[in-house]
Amino acid sequence: MKKYVVAGNWKMNKLPSETAAFIKELALKVEGAVAEVVACVPYTSLAAAVEAAKGTCVKIGAQNLHFEDSGAFTGEVSADMLVDMDVEYVIIGHSERRQYFGETDVTVNKKVIKAIEKGLKPIVCVGESLEEREQGITIDLIRSQVKIAFMNVSAEDAAKCIIAYEPIWAIGTGKTATDEQANEVCAAIRVVVRELYGDSVADGLVIQYGGSVKPSNAAALFGMSDINGGLVGGASLKSDDFAGIVKF
Ligand code: 13P
Repeated sequence: MKKYVVAGNWKMNKLPSETAAFIKELALKVEGAVAEVVACVPYTSLAAAVEAAKGTCVKIGAQNLHFEDSGAFTGEVSADMLVDMDVEYVIIGHSERRQYFGETDVTVNKKVIKAIEKGLKPIVCVGESLEEREQGITIDLIRSQVKIAFMNVSAEDAAKCIIAYEPIWAIGTGKTATDEQANEVCAAIRVVVRELYGDSVADGLVIQYGGSVKPSNAAALFGMSDINGGLVGGASLKSDDFAGIVKF
């Protein structure tokens, strides 16, 4: 049976004081959903989110981590810190981190390895810019992003990851990739994973689409052959919208 995971990426939104009520409300609205539900909240909201999600079907994730265990890295948060708070998921290599904070395929790879070593479940983001799409290099670029992100990651560990395909031109723009465009790239991701790790990892892998996912387009996107749910930004900030997507 096809597996679905719908993760919300709150980005830099919501206050710690708003978090518990929101997670509880969301949990009630998504109860019984087929899809696994994850909320990736700011570091400052993690404690409240983890507490509020206890005993519900909602899983909690962070939006980043550092690849070192500890040390002089002012402002950074380690995998151990997240694990100690009972955080389960972590987004790695979001295009906003690549664009504004200098993350590269190589740092993404280091973070994936560290997250797995510590027992966190990575949601590894890949995606092309509009210029790259127009140059016709989308598939080559995505293949390279996936290959580098998973360097020195075993098949057993790769199977614990989620890959999120997020075309940069569709993030926060209201411009969703068509179902076919999204599925074409997700299928290409599954092909590269198959080449690297074989059928069982490729067939079982959760590959999400992200970029202006809304209740009105979720069913068609998630119904495509190679899309196993979504990574949702703006619409994850409203519990009705997010629940609508989760229950596509
Ligand atoms: P939007 O859903 O707001 O387009 O954001 C997508 C995203 O970046 C999720 O990580």
